[in-house]
Amino acid sequence: MTHPSRPQPKQSVRQLLTYRPSFGETEQAELIRLSANEGALGPSPKVMSFLDSAGFEPHRYPEIQSGKLNQAIASRYRLDAEHIITSNGSDELIALLTMGYLEPGDEVVHSQYAFLVIPQAVHIAGGVPVMAADDEDMTVSVDNMLAAVTQRTKMVFLVNPNNPTGTMISMDEVRRLHAGLPESVMLVLDWAYAEYLDDGFTDEAAQMVEQYDNVVMTRTFSKLHGLAAFRLGWAYCPEHILTTIGSIRGPFSVNSAAQQAGIIAIEDIDFQALSVAHNDRWIAEMTDFLRQLGLEVVPSMTNFLLIGFDNMAHLTADEAAKRLAQDGILLRTMAPYGLANYLRMSMGTDAEMEKVKASFTRLCLNNQ
Ligand SMILES: Cc1ncc(COP(=O)(O)O)c(C=O)c1O
Repeated sequence: MTHPSRPQPKQSVRQLLTYRPSFGETEQAELIRLSANEGALGPSPKVMSFLDSAGFEPHRYPEIQSGKLNQAIASRYRLDAEHIITSNGSDELIALLTMGYLEPGDEVVHSQYAFLVIPQAVHIAGGVPVMAADDEDMTVSVDNMLAAVTQRTKMVFLVNPNNPTGTMISMDEVRRLHAGLPESVMLVLDWAYAEYLDDGFTDEAAQMVEQYDNVVMTRTFSKLHGLAAFRLGWAYCPEHILTTIGSIRGPFSVNSAAQQAGIIAIEDIDFQALSVAHNDRWIAEMTDFLRQLGLEVVPSMTNFLLIGFDNMAHLTADEAAKRLAQDGILLRTMAPYGLANYLRMSMGTDAEMEKVKASFTRLCLNNQ
């Protein structure tokens, strides 16, 4: 049955026969599993002693989707576990969505300073990224996003709060964006930094996913949960979209260590609260501190600050990055985003931030 009013996967994906191996089942407690070409002796004993405390079995393939992890995510955020799909970082979700839905030449609207993985993934998938200019205060312009939508538009990506600007738009604005889109256009809500905000914000986005056939929310364990090395992301999707991206995702893209770590992290509410409080304190303190030194700081709803150097008569972002690096402090240069005179700085530990303050003081007071 076809549904012309909702996003349609591309022809080649609709016909894909996905590889989903079955390793067989047995009631026997003693298992001699010779069905998956696994290493007979397991890993090196050194690997085992490293991982033993967590009870890992690294020679076993992970579950294709960990029901326990999906349930833990669903419980934490009051979601329906059946509509959750996990991935090898949320980067993989961006790739899967673009691969699964773009025909050659299909257009994808994103905001001016949206996360660069998005236009890259669109190109790889054969689509055409279309950039909508931000408002003057580096905030997504819903009017410009809607004006960029044409008959060729297949998807709209909204990163909110946005990386690398740190700014965000309200849920009323998100709903206005959605209301202006045809039902066949998918709206992807990249909520990578949502964990730093009140749960109410993500609840509303989840309600949109539940309400509409063309809204997806992507999330990550790489930020507040501190699990970037494990590569763990997830999406909350309508069933038909979950089926499509589930069929093109590599079956084992989420490894067992990530699944275990994800469950532990999502259940540790105290650690999450501690991390949010730490971040709130340092974002506020560093914003004030850097502004007092004469720097421009874009108001941030995330765990990083975008710092502008246009007010500094004798100091460019490039020069500042070099001098901070000499103190062992690495900030992200922003030229690829067209923000050559800006640097992006994530928040670190208390001790790290005190060193950053001392370095910035030396840097700016000698350069006014
Ligand atoms: C807006 C945004 N989306 C997605 C990602 C990707 O996160 P992950 O580590 O889950 O792939 C990032 C990471 O920086 C991001 O900033």
